[in-house]
Amino acid sequence: MSNEKSPSEPANNPAAKLWGGRFSEATDAFVERFTASVAFDQRMALEDIQGSLAHAQMLSEVGVLSDGEYRQIAGGLQDIAEEIQAGEFPWSVQLEDVHMNIEARLTQRIGATGKKLHTGRSRNDQVATDIRLWLRARIDLIAAELTRLQTGLVELAEREADTIMPGFTHLQSAQPVTFGHHLLAWNAMLGRDFERLMDCRKRVNRSPLGAAALAGTSYPINRERTSELLGFDAPTENSLDSVSDRDFAIEFCAFAALLLTHLSRASEELVLWTSSQFNFIDLPDRFCTGSSIMPQKKNPDVPELVRGKTGRVNGHLIALLTLMKSQPLAYNKDNQEDKEPLFDAADTALDCLRAFADMVPALKAKKENMLEAAAKGFSTATDLADYLVCKGVPFRDAHEIVGQSVSFAIEQDKDLAELSLVQLRQFSAEIGEDVFEVLTLEGSVAARDHIGGTAPKQVRAACERAREMISQRS
Ligand code: ARG
Repeated sequence: MSNEKSPSEPANNPAAKLWGGRFSEATDAFVERFTASVAFDQRMALEDIQGSLAHAQMLSEVGVLSDGEYRQIAGGLQDIAEEIQAGEFPWSVQLEDVHMNIEARLTQRIGATGKKLHTGRSRNDQVATDIRLWLRARIDLIAAELTRLQTGLVELAEREADTIMPGFTHLQSAQPVTFGHHLLAWNAMLGRDFERLMDCRKRVNRSPLGAAALAGTSYPINRERTSELLGFDAPTENSLDSVSDRDFAIEFCAFAALLLTHLSRASEELVLWTSSQFNFIDLPDRFCTGSSIMPQKKNPDVPELVRGKTGRVNGHLIALLTLMKSQPLAYNKDNQEDKEPLFDAADTALDCLRAFADMVPALKAKKENMLEAAAKGFSTATDLADYLVCKGVPFRDAHEIVGQSVSFAIEQDKDLAELSLVQLRQFSAEIGEDVFEVLTLEGSVAARDHIGGTAPKQVRAACERAREMISQRS
């Protein structure tokens, strides 16, 4: 009696494994499901084919595959790509992942030549290549959407360069600012996000193909060639690191977490500003929903959801950091867990950017309400102090004088600008008729006339610079 099994034939029997040679019993059905990734990694199918096409072309160029074999493989892979796009590909959980599904299908379609595709590579360098190709394409979509949002923000900022609103610290009225200036603060955060994304892209765009399982391969492969065919900047350096490195995915999630953190801050402000207590802006109905019980309600669901989705993206960053922590070199099956967090972080970032890019140009400032709110809360008190300093009063004394004036105004239930000159002069003889120029909101914002200041003139100049930065991107 012989213990030998006949070679597994996955092409004809989907339950047979591409790696079945040394196994003597079938995989447990639960283990098969538990270890499979095809349900989620099939999203990388076209990238997997792209990688295989480059690999096969390189193998033919170095003489490992004949031209005829390469043509057969390339034709088969292209047919499979069409099958996938048409939604007709027979995905099988028994074939575990996207890589083995496609490889088995190739052999099924073109015969034995299909079995030569995997020469000189491993799923370990294959999966690393696929993720990088997939992420690179998402990064480019996200960059375009980020640019669309920033373009809309800068346009709105320019339109609202003169619109006065209260500026807050501790969410208490602090000093008047222009709405355009506030919007440019959002834009500054997003500008840094864009830089981070581009920096991350550099490290995503390296080719691990050829690292094979972990040690490289004995075939005369040309890694520069596959790197070039796939549009990567260069091959990765070390084969062990190549199959185990997921830093680029972590960096992307760090970018996404910070982006969502910024969007959540803007969301929070939109939610506050649309409330009847603030009533600073109108968010068009198409971005809101109603309540099933309270007929009067118009809820800012879109910004609320963006704010809420920040939690899952922050979670994905922690999931990937924890996934990689303490992993010994080189590839470990743990790494299969990288995909769902990464995919969801990219999807969520793209969706939230889209929501914001659509919403921002539609925001309507309720200028009178903003102005009225800015006039409350003694927001020009600092301007009065600065006025006194200009008249020669030391700043600390000026601070005290203004504090007394504010306290008096509170008693009178008036704003500083509503006090008479006589009333103001009780606190300092230095106060003259010209004080009312600095106590106005317009005077206050116009006086902050330097780079990064809130003066309408500066906001327009900042919009100009922002537009210039954005236009240099493509
Ligand atoms: N599905 C696997 C993953 O996502 C592909 C690589 C598997 N490699 C292995 N040696 N089991 O990471």
